[in-house]
Amino acid sequence: MPRAGGRRMAGVNAQLAVVNGRLVTPEGVRSGVLLVADGRISGITGAAPRGVPVLDAAGGYVLPGLIDSHVHFRTPGLEHKEDWEHGSRAAVAGGVTTVLDMPNTVPPTLDPDAVVAKARRITGRSLVDFAFHIGADPSRPEILAGLDPAVARSAKVFMAGHHTAPTVISDPVQLDKVFAAAATSGVRLVLHAEDQRLHDLLDTWRGGPPDAYRDYERWRPRSSPISAVVRVLELVRRHGTEAHILHLSSADEADLVAAAAADGLPVTFELTAHHLSFTDADTARGGARTRLAPAIRGAHDQERLWAALRAGEVATLGSDHAPHTKAEKELPVAEAPPGLPGVQELATAVWTGMRRRWPDEDPDTAIRRLALHMGERPAGLFGLTGKGRLVAGADADLVVFDPERRWMLSAADVAAKCGWSAYEGWTFTGQVRVTVKAGRIVYDREQGRFGAPAGRWLSPLGREKGRACNG
Ligand code: DOR
Ligand code: ZN
Repeated sequence: MPRAGGRRMAGVNAQLAVVNGRLVTPEGVRSGVLLVADGRISGITGAAPRGVPVLDAAGGYVLPGLIDSHVHFRTPGLEHKEDWEHGSRAAVAGGVTTVLDMPNTVPPTLDPDAVVAKARRITGRSLVDFAFHIGADPSRPEILAGLDPAVARSAKVFMAGHHTAPTVISDPVQLDKVFAAAATSGVRLVLHAEDQRLHDLLDTWRGGPPDAYRDYERWRPRSSPISAVVRVLELVRRHGTEAHILHLSSADEADLVAAAAADGLPVTFELTAHHLSFTDADTARGGARTRLAPAIRGAHDQERLWAALRAGEVATLGSDHAPHTKAEKELPVAEAPPGLPGVQELATAVWTGMRRRWPDEDPDTAIRRLALHMGERPAGLFGLTGKGRLVAGADADLVVFDPERRWMLSAADVAAKCGWSAYEGWTFTGQVRVTVKAGRIVYDREQGRFGAPAGRWLSPLGREKGRACNG
């Protein structure tokens, strides 16, 4: 069992020594004692220095604190669905110590002032470090052209609308301007790539949403994201904009983006745990809990997404943690919003899927994928210095992960405010046991304990504004 114990001895610099762990470093998995001093990883050594508090990883993997570059923690304005107290607890229970939050709040985060105001609200409430995707405002593309990277390095574009997407950019001229503006300043666009005009067309043919979830996938079919991805690739080719396409749902999207990237275009993509874990049959059977935008598709598409993970074509694994209340999900199909909680389940669900699908794979190879796609790659894409790598000098954000533990998720495990999970009743392989942020334990599963909300805004502006906010 992982446990922190021992005492600090005068003159010893180290704050913590993590022993008996399999350390998941960028060079591979290795043994050794990981030392922490002043909130940073100070090195890897052979034995724990005397007198330093010890965290016993009990043979489990020690990963860098995971990054989830796609969460909707619903602040401000939608706190009945989720808030930072609950969302950040769900994060650390899932081994996540850094999140990038989405702008579709009420009001939406569409300019630097709104981002700063949001950071001020969150400071003192979050257990995890945070940064933001600013929302691309179609009426003010100039904001992206002059965006200060200390405010945000990336901007979210919704190419199609749904219940919580207020500023949809479906007009080709506006979209072109946004891509041009982002290219000017080097802002990376993160895209919800569905085709609003196709949705409108389908609605004129078929009417509104179906009466039953059996028909949900056909109502918002794979042709929609495929068409939107083609448009994105054209615009990237024209402007050179860096584009990260979120939540791929179909084989064709993966084929298109992988081919464009191989051609040298600056395009990357994200996979979610839900598109890897569920199929449209689950939505047909189970209804609103796996109602997502984009919709979850069939087994053929799901296979291609797993192949993209295996081949390393994917850049990031993101949760798209987008909770809604049980009451909202129980509304008739026309009104029930898409989205599910997922930051807590992401790493474990992907690990479970990898072990089930590829049982003969060396677990050290599999675990490196989590460190890569929830560590190095998102840190690199979004400029998160000191995050995502188990190396000396990095922030001492760590996860102790037991790769073999089998356990069933129940509603009682759910830390998200909504209190439900689409994975209830699933037997997972692998479990987050302890999560450490800046050298301090922020989650201990065995003791059922969470740490203090010491999460920082990962921006040079954050320190200054954080003080203003506390003052
Ligand atoms: O299913 C979804 N829900 N997809 C999104 O893109 C947004 C999200 C939400 O905010 O509820
Ligand atoms: Zn999202």
